[in-house]
Amino acid sequence: MEIRIFENQKEIDLAAAKYFIDVLQNKQYPILGLATGSSPIGLYNNLISAYNKDKISFKNTTTFNLDEYVGLGIDDEQSYRNFMNKHLFNQIDINLENTNIPDGKLSPEESSKIYNEKLTNVSIDIQILGIGTNGHIAFNEPGTSFSSQTHIVDLKKETIDDNARFFNDKNDVPRQAITMGLANIMQAKQIILIASGEKKAKAISLMIQGAMTEDIPASILQKHPNVTILIDRKLAKKIISCEHE
Ligand code: F6R
Repeated sequence: MEIRIFENQKEIDLAAAKYFIDVLQNKQYPILGLATGSSPIGLYNNLISAYNKDKISFKNTTTFNLDEYVGLGIDDEQSYRNFMNKHLFNQIDINLENTNIPDGKLSPEESSKIYNEKLTNVSIDIQILGIGTNGHIAFNEPGTSFSSQTHIVDLKKETIDDNARFFNDKNDVPRQAITMGLANIMQAKQIILIASGEKKAKAISLMIQGAMTEDIPASILQKHPNVTILIDRKLAKKIISCEHE
């Protein structure tokens, strides 16, 4: 696990984009693992700008997103499908048919099964991850088995509270999601995890220097051979001060 510390979010976003641009320039048929939420937005903006400068093309690219809320589809403002179309796919030359996100409108059991079948036949070249304040990656909440495949999840209160900022009303946050499992995520050849701000310090600290335990789902990354964690100085300082508390 490599940990890189940056001055601010802008520097993190540039560094994250470099890893992705490298894959996009060197692979004939790149397969990207993508995330939603606030952490990857700057990365996506940098990829759009590299595309606009003709440095990269997404014509031969396939993408797989981590998760989707149960019950939400393309017409729902807060669906992850809508997020991805808005923040990335509609601004680049990707074929939308090559962009994969669990279908929130199907029965969740069926949707998980279909998505997992798709994932077993591919090998993601590079996966971007954010991390939840409770240590979740994708929507694998504390207690999820390290051997989990794509599954339906009941979102924890912390996750509902954290994500309420994207919705008009906290009661609108769906209570369930479909998520890639931890075993699916570990299949990616390379993983980049982005986090910034003091709020994420405890989760990052437990992920990198705590025990590898299903109580902190992100701690599974300790055994992945190619993970890079990009964090800002504020968060790094907080980790150090936590140690002295
Ligand atoms: C998003 C996802 C989540 C987020 C995490 C952090 O697809 O799977 O694990 O990465 O909740 O969210 P932000 O980046 O909004 O702090």
